Amino acid sequence: DVEKKVDSVLSLMTLEEKVGQMVQYNGSWDLTGPASEVGNKEKEDRLKKGLVGSMLNVLSVEATEKAQRLNMENSRIKIPLIFGYDVIHGYNTIFPVPLGETASWDVDAARESARIAALESVAQGVNWTFSPMIDISRDARWGRIMEGSGEDTYLTSQIAVAKIKGYQGEDLSSPNTIAATAKHFAGYGLAEGGKDYNAVNIGMNELQNVVLPPFKAAADAGVATFMNSFNTIDGIPATGSEFLQREILKGEWGWQGFVVSDWGSISEMIPHGFASDKVHAAEIAVKAGSDMDMEGGAYEAGLQQLVAKGKVDEALIDDAVRRILRVKFKLGLFEDPYRYMNAELASKIPYDEHRKTAREIAKKSIVLLKNENNLLPLKNSVKKIAVIGPLADDKDTPIGNWRAQGEKNSAVSVLEGLKNANLGSKLSYAKGVTLGEGERSFLMPLKINKTDRSGIPDAVAKAKDAEVVIMVLGEDAFQSGEGRSQVNIGLAGLQLELLKEVHKVNKNIVLVLMNGRPMEISWAAENVPAIVEVWQLGTESGNAIADVLLGKYNPSGKLPVSFPKAVGQEPLYYNRMNTGRPSNDQHVTYSHYTDIQNGPLYPFGYGLSYTTFKYGEINLSSAELKTGESVTLSIPVTNSGSIKGKEVVQLYIHDVVASVARPIKELKGFKMVELQPGETKNVEFQIDSDLLKFYNAKGVWKAEAGEFELMLGGNSEDLKTISLKYVE
Ligand code: IFM
Repeated sequence: DVEKKVDSVLSLMTLEEKVGQMVQYNGSWDLTGPASEVGNKEKEDRLKKGLVGSMLNVLSVEATEKAQRLNMENSRIKIPLIFGYDVIHGYNTIFPVPLGETASWDVDAARESARIAALESVAQGVNWTFSPMIDISRDARWGRIMEGSGEDTYLTSQIAVAKIKGYQGEDLSSPNTIAATAKHFAGYGLAEGGKDYNAVNIGMNELQNVVLPPFKAAADAGVATFMNSFNTIDGIPATGSEFLQREILKGEWGWQGFVVSDWGSISEMIPHGFASDKVHAAEIAVKAGSDMDMEGGAYEAGLQQLVAKGKVDEALIDDAVRRILRVKFKLGLFEDPYRYMNAELASKIPYDEHRKTAREIAKKSIVLLKNENNLLPLKNSVKKIAVIGPLADDKDTPIGNWRAQGEKNSAVSVLEGLKNANLGSKLSYAKGVTLGEGERSFLMPLKINKTDRSGIPDAVAKAKDAEVVIMVLGEDAFQSGEGRSQVNIGLAGLQLELLKEVHKVNKNIVLVLMNGRPMEISWAAENVPAIVEVWQLGTESGNAIADVLLGKYNPSGKLPVSFPKAVGQEPLYYNRMNTGRPSNDQHVTYSHYTDIQNGPLYPFGYGLSYTTFKYGEINLSSAELKTGESVTLSIPVTNSGSIKGKEVVQLYIHDVVASVARPIKELKGFKMVELQPGETKNVEFQIDSDLLKFYNAKGVWKAEAGEFELMLGGNSEDLKTISLKYVE
């Protein structure tokens, strides 16, 4: 079996070779040409000696094959390399950014897009993705909020498991599947002030109850690898945290995969002030349980001498290498190191099918935020439509950040989508203003246009001449993502000015909001009759948006994040604690800001449909629950409108009095129902004591006896409540 094979390979390895397995190199130099630069030459030499375990960013069958051959044909030990890459929301065919896809609340969709991404990745030699990102993020200022599933622990856990199953399939050794990564372990999404890479200062309660459950779910689902994170957490860099990696992940959870560091995060413990140099950083990281050093140079620099000097026990190195070899065996790389380098496979990938799926998933991810007087769906009788805004004919922004090999300008724009729907003769178009200027790319700072107003008069003229205006505004693809935190989350540049100018001449505005994070859109929410949140939807963006605007698809998405009224409310999330002074009508000494009402603009779980849903009376099979038993909670949901529609029915709970203060509500389940007009379905949830458990002050996961409120509804604020008594 695998363990025996791992042990037998390990027994043949020298210490230098073992350390080599723990090193990952970036390979974005041209591996198909000569390695001329000094750094690359050195790396190539190490590859030939079998002193590299993995590479990332090697991006073609040709290139991966070349690297694998250098290693396999020259090294003494002949252990195949594993090739990693950030396949975050698709490889060639791009799906909605993860935050957007989560808005579908559709785990099958999340699984399917991951399966497709895996298939397209293996066709290019990639066998390991650094996804899913399952960091809980409650602060819209944090640029990487677009890469995860938002603010909720339960929803994130469900999506995490679906993604892992999609990437890894039933059998990791199948040539159609790739290894997944649960990242970033842990706390990265709660960076102070929403500033990327910043310190995380949370206590055990929040760590255990909010941050860790999706990672536990990922570990239980058999995710092959974990990635640790850049941040410190309560003063300890996550990469150097023995508590997180050894005690919890590998100890308590018994997880057998390997942990890769984030890019350079081992050596970044030096600027953190936690390690004095690379050798010291290597010592801390290996003891803490970081198994592979991504481009940090610390393990290479330090591990051999640390073992020689007796500072690091070789057993720790063996444990790390065992874990890495285990994943390589499971991927089938020892059987055939070239298994994932099949140029023929690439020609057989059903890209057309993938695009169709991308359109389906994109439609499901759209959230209807406002629809006064049923402005949407657009009526056939509307004769003139002005399509306006910097993102209206943008073919690149929908591809989003972390786009893997999604080509620049390869998405269907909104304008194109509307033309594809045969609306061409009704449409006029004006860009109005530009948003992101000049070259836009992953590492480059983005320049926002704040001065060029020359296109506004044309946009206003076209708006004046139209019956309905579709305004496509939001964020450039490179406003969110890594290193893209912002203190302002409103419409950047001249967009709000453009919107206001257009509004002066035509009030029939449908605002199509294209963005990677929750935005502050208070003016629009008050003044614009229809708002559709479309995120960055990927390759088929414009077609999917047209499907929704024209009513070919009835929107069913729900927000996985709260939208604030003002940026000053951030971090803003629904599952907050109550405080001792939640409200007071008489004077100011309660928990609030004096210049804004408490609460979000649009709450977590919110999203409208072109039909309406009515919730009947909530029912509980018994008002008392005992350990080992379960009770049935149900509610009749009726489609009270005139067209077929889908509704996500959400279950929240609240532990009224507990040994630690518990959130005012927490999502614990959801079900999607499809209803014909007039149809009613009874939606049921089983409640047992597992569902009521939380990590208490004594460090125990336990359901505590007492009263619980159970809540059901279509978003986190509009809920029907019933009380349950739990008896231990
Ligand atoms: O996977 C990423 C990670 O999320 C951020 N730092 C770089 C890694 C590899 O590209």
